[in-house]
Order: sequence, then structure tokens, then C-alpha cells
Amino acid sequence: MKRILVTGAGGQIGSELVPALRARYGSENVIATGHVSPLPEEVSAGPCAYVDVTKYSQVDDAIKECRVDTVFHLASVLSALAERNRRDAYDVNFNGMNNVLEAGVANRLDMVVAPSSIAAFGPETPSDNTPNDTVQKPNTVYGISKVFSELMGNYYSTKLGLDVRGVRLPGIISWKVEPTAGTTDYAVAIFYGAIREGRYTCFLSPETRLPMMYMPDAISALMSVAEADGSLLKHHADFNVNAMSFTPSELAAAIRERIPGFEIAYQVDELRQGIADSWPDKLDDTVAREEWGWAPRYDLDAMVDDMLENLGRKLGAAPAV
Ligand code: SER
Repeated sequence: MKRILVTGAGGQIGSELVPALRARYGSENVIATGHVSPLPEEVSAGPCAYVDVTKYSQVDDAIKECRVDTVFHLASVLSALAERNRRDAYDVNFNGMNNVLEAGVANRLDMVVAPSSIAAFGPETPSDNTPNDTVQKPNTVYGISKVFSELMGNYYSTKLGLDVRGVRLPGIISWKVEPTAGTTDYAVAIFYGAIREGRYTCFLSPETRLPMMYMPDAISALMSVAEADGSLLKHHADFNVNAMSFTPSELAAAIRERIPGFEIAYQVDELRQGIADSWPDKLDDTVAREEWGWAPRYDLDAMVDDMLENLGRKLGAAPAV
């Protein structure tokens, strides 16, 4: 992994993964790409290119022109938006993945890293301590696209010699760039509400338990799986990773311990509640721990402390009390 291209680099994860990769591999060796121009300031300090992943020629040209050997493929339409906009989601999530894989083979890339999601599971999946290898059958467009990515990633790895790796990320909590139109976004938006107004109205019901992860652990998961010794891996594009699980009411209680006047109200959005109810509560990540040493650093309390400190500073506000 010497020269890396990142798709979807302007998104919530890309805007933090790109600087982390640049710190490790050299700024000039990490090319941030996206279909918005200009890309956010978090990634525009180094090399950038316009790439729409739905266009094979743009993916292929960028890989050739930038002479990369590795692609981190982050471009994706998240769960709630994908339900409302199936055709765009199909184009980005299915065709985009296919384009990256085919360009990967054509250009003899060393590796493609393509994150999957807890959305790759569905209502028939055992929801508590979900095993790595179990029934999936998601009932959302986004989830189906992630199963496609996992299976195609495994296929290209075993049949075509393209090393494709991926972890099933849960809801990612971060303070630099907000997520767009996912089901787990409440766990980020709640902090903006808490700091700005001392209150938040949640679109999921109070007892909806979902797996979550703080951004530094998500970056570590993506970089660690990419750097793992391939000879020790039995899985490829489908590793469970777990960090913490909580409900909106438990997260609100953790925030209230630090901002005593914080109030939460609930106005359930049926679309996102239905999606959340189809996802696991907590993943069993033994396989990732055994095959490449996965271990998260942040639990709920450590995450809440760090979010309030950093987001408070970013918003230029003392937390509301
Ligand atoms: N955070 C994503 C979503 O809510 C799950 O991978 O869509």
C-alpha cells in the first residue's frame, strides 16, 4: 500500500480517513476523490480529483493517472436516503462497487478496501451478539447493496486475485463532518442539539438499541484490516467489528450526566425506525479479533466525553446547561 485513492472522500468517514492515511503514507500518496467539488477543507490540503464512481471511465482514469495501488471505496448512499431514492442508490452502491472492482482487476491493484455495514443483516438475523457468519437477508436497498459488496469482494478475492477487505461498520459518531441520511445519524445530531440548545428531538424510539462506534475506532478498523497479514485472513470483505451498543435513552442519560438540563423528546420516523428495528443490537466480533487483532478503544463514556469537548470547541459554545 504505497499510493492510495479514496472515493467518497468528502463524507463523514472520508474526511477523517484521508488525513489519517496521509499521516501514515505521506500526503502526496493519498488522493482524495469525490463527486462534489471542491472537497471539504479536511481533505483538500493534499491531492484531490473529481471522480463519480458511477462512471467506470472516471474510476479507471483516476487509478491510472494517479498510479495508485490501493483504493479505499467509501462512496455510498446511506440507508434512509437509499430507501427514498432507489435508482441513485443502485447506481452508486451497486454500479459504483462494480466499477471499482473491475477497474481494480484491470489495473492490477494490490487491494480494495470497501466498508460494509450492520445494514448487511436483517430481521431474521440473531440480533444479540450477531455471529460473523449467519443469516443476512437485509430488507433495505442499502443493506442489500452491502451484501452485494461483501459477496463480490469475497468473490474477487478468491477467484480473481484482487485482495478486497471490509468491515461491517455500525453507526459512526464523529464531530468533524456530519453523516448524511443514515438511520444512526441521531447519535451525532443529539450532540449538536445538546450543545446548541440543551435539547434534542429523536427520530428513533427511546429503547432502540444499535451498535455504534466512535470515529477514531472506525479509522483504526479500516486501516488495521488493510494492513493485516493477508496470509492470516480467512474472511475478506465481511468482518464484524463491535465497539459499543446503546439506546437513545441511554445516550441521553450519558449526556445528561454532563449537561444536567439536557432534555430529549421523541418523534418517531417510521421509515428509519423500521430500518433500525431490522438491524442487530450488538455484533460478535471474535473473528476480527482473532484474524487481525481488532480491539476498539472507546466505550460510551469515553466517546461522550470526547464528543462534548471537541464538538463544543468546534461550535464555539460552552455546553448548554
Ligand atoms: N450509519 C449507516 C446508516 O445509518 C449504517 O451503516 O445508514
